[in-house]
Parts: sequence; structure tokens; C-alpha cells
Amino acid sequence: MTAKPFEVGVLVGSLRKASWSRKLALALRATAPASLALDIIEIGAMPLYNYDDEPHAPQPWLHFRNRVRAVDALLFVTPEYNRSIPSVLKNAIDVGSRPRGSSVFDAKPAAVISISPGLMGAFGANQHLRQCLVCLNVPTMPAPEAYIGGIEHIFDADGAITVEATRTFLDGFMRAFAVWVEKLAPVRTLLK
Ligand code: FNR
Repeated sequence: MTAKPFEVGVLVGSLRKASWSRKLALALRATAPASLALDIIEIGAMPLYNYDDEPHAPQPWLHFRNRVRAVDALLFVTPEYNRSIPSVLKNAIDVGSRPRGSSVFDAKPAAVISISPGLMGAFGANQHLRQCLVCLNVPTMPAPEAYIGGIEHIFDADGAITVEATRTFLDGFMRAFAVWVEKLAPVRTLLK
């Protein structure tokens, strides 16, 4: 009998239809290790976080919180905007982190992949995101780190990753993430 895969919620830091981040998330969903089941949790429909709205929290906030609460782990795939994370991703993090004391992110194992058409692979966004995750008690896989530069050159027309070195690296990254989740997801269950 095979064990049930861990549910991994994927947060994509871009709303663009032709987003490279989303393309990468979809490619990883198709090729992830069998112990991980990836599903994108959409973040684009949420109103900007405003603490005043908590007593009557908008439905999209509640829906997002429920989606995140239900998964075992999180994978962030994000571009960089002005050397940080796009505001849509920060908004999702802020929404999920409140009300105080009931953050849906608490103790969920996570990993971060940043992408860019440029050469630096969105290093700034990757590091800023990790900083938020520390504050939220999200155990984020320290290594390997994934800074995917030259993103527009790695896919074929069907969205498969054609650059062998990148594919090999990402396969290894996802295998390491599977081990990370296996180690930490049961801890979270015990804490509940
Ligand atoms: C960018 N881009 C960008 N790239 C980068 O490597 N570092 C940066 O600081 C920025 N800043 C930035 C700001 C804003 C407002 C935009 C719209 C874009 C370029 C960005 O990496 C590129 O548009 C990616 O293709 C965006 O990711 P998706 O939408 O393809 O997933």
C-alpha cells in the first residue's frame, strides 16, 4: 500500500496570465516526487488586508485561510518586484497570518523558489520572503536555495523544462523538499 501524498499548497507571486512563475509551478506539479501532491492556492482575488475588516472578514480571505489550513506544506514560487516580493504575495501572507494567534501558516514546512528573466534569480525577493516566514514560524528549507535566472529560456512551448541542468537542479530541489516535508509535517500534526 502506498502512503497518501502530502498536500502542498503552491503560492505563486504573480497574477499575469503568461507568468513564468506559474509556468514553473505547473511544471513542478507535473514532475514532483510521488510523496507530494501540489496544488496552486490562488491569491489574486483577495482584497487588501485591513485589520478593521476582521469582524466581517471578506469571503476570499476566509477561503484562502481554509485552503492554507488544509495543506500539509507550502511551496512559494515568486518573481521579484523592486528587489522584494510582489505585493499580491505579501497581501496573501498578511491575510493568512491574522487574526493574531490563529495564523494558518504556523509550523507548516515550506520551500521557496524565486525566478527572474535576469541573472540574479530574484535573490532579493527570495531573502525577503524568508524573512517573513521566520516571523510566521514557518520552517523553510534552508538548502538547496533556488534562484532561477533566465527563466524565459527554460521552457518549451508545452511548459516542460528543457534546460537539462535546470531540470536536474529542480528535481533535486523537489526531492530535498519531499524529505523536509516528511520530517516536519508530522510534527505539525502532533502540535495540533
Ligand atoms: C519587475 N521585474 C524585476 N525583476 C527582477 O529580477 N528584479 C526586480 O527587482 C524586478 N522588479 C520588477 C518590478 C515590477 C513592478 C515588475 C512588473 C517587474 C521583472 C520581473 O522579474 C518579470 O516581469 C517577471 O517575468 C515577473 O514574473 P512573472 O509574472 O513572469 O511570473
